[in-house]
Amino acid sequence: MPNLVLVTITMFSRKVEKGLDKHNVFADFPKGRVAFFVTTNVHKLNEARQVLAEQGLAAAMLRIEAIEVQSDHLEEIAEASVRDAVEKSGLPVLVEDAGLFIEALKGFPGPYSSYVYRTLGTKGILKLMEGIAKRNAYFHSVVVFHSPEQASPQCFHGKVEGELAVKERGNQGFGYDPIFEPRAGTGKTFAEMTTAEKNRFSHRALAIRKFAAWYKST
Ligand code: IMP
Repeated sequence: MPNLVLVTITMFSRKVEKGLDKHNVFADFPKGRVAFFVTTNVHKLNEARQVLAEQGLAAAMLRIEAIEVQSDHLEEIAEASVRDAVEKSGLPVLVEDAGLFIEALKGFPGPYSSYVYRTLGTKGILKLMEGIAKRNAYFHSVVVFHSPEQASPQCFHGKVEGELAVKERGNQGFGYDPIFEPRAGTGKTFAEMTTAEKNRFSHRALAIRKFAAWYKST
């Protein structure tokens, strides 16, 4: 069922991108049973899909280019994107913004994690951390839901504390996964875990679980 929904929405979203069809063709979907996740990141979608499936919800990938503003606050970035995505699609949608906050670097890269990943990458972060013993860091995820009927977006937060590894380990996941070890885990980096294992600890899974509980109750 979730796969079927995914295919349908991807086709529909192409229409949205071209601005051909803005009316809500999904108005008949059972309310509170499917979440339209605005992302182009398949890893994020798969993580969200597994968490939502635990809650009896389906995840649909909505491929639209939502604006990404520059801000020092993840919530502001995600809220601007979700408002834009609702405006462009006419659908109730979910947007997520996440960042890696490193204590020894005063929270860097934080809300700039995406830019820093593209420029310095994980190797650049490890270089900045060379010789630093205190390696505490956390991931913060802000999941925001908004719909054409809703007055303002609804935010859900998730954080996972951990340590930065000394070198990259593992080849699963994405982004900073090879250099982040969640403290509640067994010393593995996120990239050494399956999606199901990562979802036991991750910032995103925590935020999505909060969203799912709220979504089912609305
Ligand atoms: P965004 O939420 O896609 O803007 O993510 C910002 C940056 O953090 C990107 O470079 C992502 O690759 C990275 N990132 C976000 N979430 C995760 C995660 O769960 N694991 C590893 N890196 C992540």
